[in-house]
Amino acid sequence: MRAVTPGLFISLEGIDGSGKSTQAKGLAAWLRRQGRDPVLTREPGGAPGAEEIRRLLVEGDPDRWSPETEILLFTAARRDHLERTIRPALAAGRDVITDRFADSTRVYQGATRGDLRGLVDDIHARVIGIEPDLTLILDIDPEIALARGLARRSGEDRFEDFGLAFQKKLHEGFRALARQAPRRCVLIDANRATEAIAADIIACVAKRLG
Ligand code: TMP
Repeated sequence: MRAVTPGLFISLEGIDGSGKSTQAKGLAAWLRRQGRDPVLTREPGGAPGAEEIRRLLVEGDPDRWSPETEILLFTAARRDHLERTIRPALAAGRDVITDRFADSTRVYQGATRGDLRGLVDDIHARVIGIEPDLTLILDIDPEIALARGLARRSGEDRFEDFGLAFQKKLHEGFRALARQAPRRCVLIDANRATEAIAADIIACVAKRLG
């Protein structure tokens, strides 16, 4: 069954421990209550091959990969995710909510360990070439977020293990992105209760759905 309006492609972004995954689930539930049929997915991952690449990226020593190698691996996972999950869902008229997309590469790989943004943008243009309709950036104090992320001890802590200075750079990087792409990106104050954050997210999405 096709949705009443075409599927929206929404990404949630933010530093580790910003609460994206909880909010992504809440948004999917809200869209279902509106009679829509969203696909909830994530990066790195979101398709079987991409999930295999995820393990290479999020586990192990922080210095396991150079930023350049990371860009290639994240992009390989994204291409698989796009081919197998995102494009088929959008083509069927479904909404797609992804917990992270290309902005994570722009910030984590492009703006924290030297200026690799040009490389990220070139590769993105050649093999991905799509942006979300709406990107919700959960903006949270890096100290609170890092404490939360590490408390989870998920075994996927490779990026948390870069430490607070790294998380602060990421925080600035996401804010800079929001300034660069103001029509697509909305900064959401994530230093608040889950329900207050969810209400802002729903208001933004409801506006885009008209
Ligand atoms: P997650 O914890 O939000 O599932 O994301 C896994 C880690 O991968 C997280 O620390 C952010 C990092 N990451 C990048 O460095 N670049 C990317 O392009 C993506 C999608 C994630």
